[in-house]
Amino acid sequence: MKSFYITTAIDYVNGSPHLGHAYEKVLTDVIARFRRLMGDKVHFLTGVDEHGQKVQQSARKRGIPPQQFCNEVSQEFRNLCTRLNISNDDFIRTTEPRHKSVVRDALQKLFDRGEIYRADYKGFYSTRQEQFLQEKDRLPNGAWPEIFGEVTEITESNYFFKLKAYQPWLIEFLQQNENFIFPRYRQKQVLEFLKEPLNDLCISRPRERLEWGIALPFDENYVTYVWFDALLNYYSAVADKGLWPADFNVIGKDILVPPHAVYWPIMLKAMGLPPPKSLLVHGWWLQSGQKMSKSSGNAVNPLDLIDQFGADAFRYFLIREMNVGQDSEFTLELFLSRYNSDLANDLGNLVNRTLNMTNRFGGGVVPAAEIVEDPERELHELWEKTRTEALPLCEGMQFHSALDRAFTFIKAINAYIEKRAPWKLGKSTEAADQARLRTSLATMAESLRLGSTLIQMVMPTTTQKIHAALGYTPGSGWADELVWGSRLTGCKVEAGLVLFPRPQPAAPKA
Ligand code: ME8
Ligand code: MG
Repeated sequence: MKSFYITTAIDYVNGSPHLGHAYEKVLTDVIARFRRLMGDKVHFLTGVDEHGQKVQQSARKRGIPPQQFCNEVSQEFRNLCTRLNISNDDFIRTTEPRHKSVVRDALQKLFDRGEIYRADYKGFYSTRQEQFLQEKDRLPNGAWPEIFGEVTEITESNYFFKLKAYQPWLIEFLQQNENFIFPRYRQKQVLEFLKEPLNDLCISRPRERLEWGIALPFDENYVTYVWFDALLNYYSAVADKGLWPADFNVIGKDILVPPHAVYWPIMLKAMGLPPPKSLLVHGWWLQSGQKMSKSSGNAVNPLDLIDQFGADAFRYFLIREMNVGQDSEFTLELFLSRYNSDLANDLGNLVNRTLNMTNRFGGGVVPAAEIVEDPERELHELWEKTRTEALPLCEGMQFHSALDRAFTFIKAINAYIEKRAPWKLGKSTEAADQARLRTSLATMAESLRLGSTLIQMVMPTTTQKIHAALGYTPGSGWADELVWGSRLTGCKVEAGLVLFPRPQPAAPKA
């Protein structure tokens, strides 16, 4: 069994999770579930980033100790994972002892090897981004871009990690590993960034400026800079399991350069560890063209949509709409249109028609297919095409296209039913029509079984419910389950199944 280790970014707990965080978890979950279905032994890690200025500030605002604040908000992120049906094997918090001890060990080792030194630093500092800025960060008019928030000039003595010394190594590594970053064009952006000389990385914050962090093991007057702390979660969570390197670190595009593409591989190199095999970089969910974010007040609460439409519908929307790597606009209209047309109409109706007709014309039992005529042949052919195209699409992270193929097939099953019109065949007493009727019932059930199996990594509950309604218990080999056959013959189907109820119209405003 091939082992496969995948992670999400760990979210800052400075505010409640929004749809962007939900997306990253769902995307990673879809990959993890797909790999499991393909037979890999998967380890899936997610978690929260609890240290740093932002969290300290948010806790102060609430007037509670940072640990208590973290405990509360972390629970919201955990709950979100449960509500989204995320299949993570572990959930790491950076305030846990298992993480802190790995960070402190790493720092001590790097310090002992001379990879970390102390120096005075004077510069412009952005509190919001928790970073010192450089002249090249300024706008042409000399001002600091808005993303940095308030910028102040400060001098302090700090510890630095020798990042610059590894720049030639990193460039060579990226040139030799063209598939390190997905999508590939992002790797070019990193190489572009590396054309400018790197500065060494300040990895400490004086305690008087920031208390909420991991103390440096060699100088307790300082705490560890949040990125140095946070990035190590991917390693600390599996340090005793022998699972490093990760196959994928899944992240959003805002944290690629420099943290994941520059700091992270260099930190690992300096520690004598291999880099992750790959960084998977997704785009942003936007509202009116703006990145959805905790601070800008345009965040959509995923729990509202899950409450109303269910986790699977929400997961379907996120994965169907976004081409991994690119940005995608969120609107309720788009959501409702996917829900009504793809889920309620195409899939929901298909399930009900199949169950109803099997009950009406087959006594509730799936008959054996007896003949193959043009309508069956066409549907078989479309299924073969769907299956052979969908799997490579999933391997290549093109889940939105794989879903598109799956739902084209689901639509085609509905069209097949129209063409065969079992309600007409049922009125005929001719033997050939009776054979057609039984064949049509077998064909719609089998193709529904196949179509619903194909979307399992995105809509696991829906797949399960459909299989149960068909009276079917799938075997353990998912790829085998995708082969057209007669597995349903003799299965006793349920009377009906409501999968995607029409949303209740909103109550009229008083
Ligand atoms: O960056 N659309 O945490 P975070 C899509 N703690 N993805 C989005 C998004 C949006 N509108 N907004 C945020 C941090 N994300 C650090 C990470 S990893 C060692 C430390 C994604 O809570 C974002 O791109 O700001 C990131 O991958 C994740 O949510 C957490 O963001
Ligand atoms: Mg962020």
